[in-house]
This record gives sequence, structure tokens and C-alpha cells, in this order.
Amino acid sequence: MSIVSILQESPIQTVKMCGFQIHVKRDDLLNDYFSGNKARKFAYYLGLSSGLSSSSNSDNDSSQIKKIVSYGSIQANSLYSLAALAKLKNWQLDYYVTRIANWLKDSPAASSQGNYGGALKLGANIIEVADDEITKHGKNLDDFMTYKAQTFSDNILFIPEGGRSTLAQYGINQLAKELNQYCQQSKIKHAFVMLPAGTGTTALFLQTWFKQQQLPHQVLTCACVGGDDYLRKQFTQLNRNTEQWPTILTPQKKYHFGKLYAEFYQLWQQLNDETDIEFDLLYDPLGWQVLLEFLNVQTRSSDQNVDVIYIHQGGIIGNQTMLPRYQRKYPDIK
Ligand SMILES: Cc1ncc(COP(=O)(O)O)c(C=O)c1O
Repeated sequence: MSIVSILQESPIQTVKMCGFQIHVKRDDLLNDYFSGNKARKFAYYLGLSSGLSSSSNSDNDSSQIKKIVSYGSIQANSLYSLAALAKLKNWQLDYYVTRIANWLKDSPAASSQGNYGGALKLGANIIEVADDEITKHGKNLDDFMTYKAQTFSDNILFIPEGGRSTLAQYGINQLAKELNQYCQQSKIKHAFVMLPAGTGTTALFLQTWFKQQQLPHQVLTCACVGGDDYLRKQFTQLNRNTEQWPTILTPQKKYHFGKLYAEFYQLWQQLNDETDIEFDLLYDPLGWQVLLEFLNVQTRSSDQNVDVIYIHQGGIIGNQTMLPRYQRKYPDIK
């Protein structure tokens, strides 16, 4: 695995979906282990001690690091990428979760595939935290880990859930520069840049960079996990200046993260057919759905063409476990 190839620029491909022309930033092609936004969010850590990160930053001396500690969902793409990061650097990964679902524990196929299976193969140490342990120190795993991190020694690198950290800015600024360069070359004056959000880190830092550079590009996003208020709380933790926040598009219907919806599966298949690109089954169906709703309204209200760049943030490895679940639940959707 070469760090230099992980940090290289990704291509942009123009596709048609439901009659709309969309530019797709293919960050999914960056690297198998650091697919999509993980390559961006973890670029700082990837560059540690290799001279690739900002060399003027004295914080990037990683010589004493022995272990990464992180936490989040057992099926998160970040789990797999953190396991790869640890392997690459010869560190250990301790990853805390609230619960390993029984269907995952009991299925040898699921335990050897997807983000969970892949992380286990890379040597990740996965630790389940009991509910009563969490409630001693807060409301959720995030509170529990923030409390726990206060006691960590210098040889532990603590990475918050999904890479939600100001250090993610380093790699996401690079993505913003690539997008802006593309707009300049393609004579796009005002782009709508769409990407679905989990922690909102990627969308937030993209919009922040465009605003700081006084560029008119507008970042659109949607809350896949926990609703619009939850997403705004996540933004607040990283940047309190609401003028630098992305625009949140709200779907017409409420969806629960990780649940299987027939319309998501159908849209995902339509995307495969029309664009010939495989998108992720967890975030992208909602991302595309709200984008198409937005474009339908936008083009109805003005006859001007709008330029849209959709960021493919990777996550395809998660489809190894999501797709069989969809196929079992909706055998008639083909
Ligand atoms: C495929 C995919 N899309 C979107 C997201 C959401 O990214 P963020 O947490 O930066 O909002 C993630 C999570 O990192 C992801 O894996």
C-alpha cells in the first residue's frame, strides 16, 4: 500500500441521471482501504512522520504513537480504514462499539466480509461497551469516549467517531482545491456540490474552504444519521460560524439510518443502470434522492442550467453486507 497513491487526485466523470447532467467526483477510486472521504479525512494521519503532512507542524511527530483508539458503528467505513491505517503504521487499533448485532456475530459470511470482517482481518481489536458503563459517564458512546480520552497517554492517538476532527480539514481542503480547479477548467462559475452527511465533517470543511476563499460554490448536504438538528450540532462542534455551513436539504419523508427502504434499493439500481457507477447503499440513496428533489424544484423555477458536482465518498465495501440484506428483503426488486 503506497501512501503517495492514496493522496493522489481523483478524476471527475460526467453522467446523466433522470435527465440531469451531473459531474461525479470519483473519490471512491482513490484507494481500496481509504475509499472516498476516508482518504481525505485521514490524510493528515496518513502523512504522519512521512513528511507528507504539513511539515511545518510540529504536532505531526508520531514516533511515540503505539495505538489508535476510536469508536462508532460496527459497520462503519471508518472502522475498516482505521484498521488499515493502524496496519500501515504498525500500530494497534482499539475500536469501541455499543453492540455487535447478532446477525453480524452469528453469520460467518458477514464476519468475514464488509467493513467489520475486513477490519478483523487487518487485526482490529473490537471492544463492546455495556450500556450501564456508558450511562455512568454520559448519554451515549460519544460522551463515554470523550470522557475516557482525557486519561489517554501520549502514545495513544485518539480519533473521534468517523474522523470528526479539525485535523480532517487538511485532506478536505485538498478536495476543495481539486473541485475548484475543475470548475475553473470547465468554466463553471457557481457549482452546487452535493454530498450526503454522517458526522457532516466533509461537507462542513468543504463549504468552509469555499467561503474562506470567497468562492461562490455552494455545498448541499442531507442528514443521513439522526436528522437535521443532530447534523447542526455536529457542525457546531467543528465550526461555530454558521455562515460557513453547508445548506441542509431535508427529504420529504423521514428515514432511519441503516434501515432498508424499497425506494432506496430501486434508486440505487437505477443509478447503477444509468451512470454505470456503483454507489454505496447506506448514504448515497438518500443523497441522490434529495439531490433529485432539489433539481426538480430548481429547474422548474428557473430555465438556467445548474452545475452540480456529486461527491462519491466511497463506502462500496459496505455493500458486501448491505446488498444481500436488500436482496433477501426485496426479492421482487430486480
Ligand atoms: C460512503 C460515505 N458517505 C458519506 C459519509 C459521511 O461522511 P461525514 O461523516 O464526513 O459526513 C461517510 C462516512 O464517513 C461514508 O462512508
